[in-house]
Amino acid sequence: MSNIKHVAIIMDGNGRWATKRYRPRVWGHIRGSAVVSDIVQAADDLGLRALTLYAFSTENWSRPIEEVSTLFRLLKKFLLKEKMRLLANNVQFKVIGEIQNLAPETIALIKELEDETRSNTGLKLTFAFSYGSRSEITRAVNLFQEQNPGKMMNETDLDRYMYRPETGDVDLMIRTGGEQRISNFLLWQLAYAELYFTPTKWPDFTPLEFKKIIENVSYRERRFGNVNSQTGLEDSLMKAESNKSTLFKGVNV
Ligand code: FPP
Repeated sequence: MSNIKHVAIIMDGNGRWATKRYRPRVWGHIRGSAVVSDIVQAADDLGLRALTLYAFSTENWSRPIEEVSTLFRLLKKFLLKEKMRLLANNVQFKVIGEIQNLAPETIALIKELEDETRSNTGLKLTFAFSYGSRSEITRAVNLFQEQNPGKMMNETDLDRYMYRPETGDVDLMIRTGGEQRISNFLLWQLAYAELYFTPTKWPDFTPLEFKKIIENVSYRERRFGNVNSQTGLEDSLMKAESNKSTLFKGVNV
């Protein structure tokens, strides 16, 4: 069984894919949105616990208006078209990001699908939309301070104040399109993630390549700072804590 449970994807390369075919950039997004449905289905088939997709960043607001409105339209279309399938597949859906900036009708559709899938126990599907990781972290810190005045924040607190804490750390982050950057995506949650960059542009990305990447990465040794890979992140952190207290017993550090 694979140790990869939470996969996050930066779906890059749509614009270049379209331009290469002498089509407008939005054509790439339209083709890319069909791939989203296939990859969600594949994640479900593979038994992943969580899939987080970067669909629109806070920086993407500065793109030409036609492109921005196409991405909004595609989100709306996805919400309407995939609703039945998500419900039938027991998927729990959520959008993370500054969605207050979206059209009221789209916000209502998002809320409706989130509510209807809230008690589902299968794949936790997240769309990062109008999302930026630095802004997520800043928001978490501010919220914590507001609700716990004067209290120091620890790592568990920060985990808990993220948009969707139940999805936990990312095990594998895939970026399509050939660039090798994180682009303000899940900076906190990627701390121990395996990173995989494929030259395939998102509209050409297939469930088969997705499965092969997961298979390939499952064989990588994940040591979480430990010397062997037998332990998971939690075990590794606990062991580190206990070693620290044994080593420094009586030593003032
Ligand atoms: C980056 O490609 C991709 C995006 C900014 C949007 C990703 C969106 C989709 C795949 C479709 C949206 C679908 C739903 C269901 C919301 P880019 O345009 O920056 O590509 P480039 O690097 O080639 O220019």
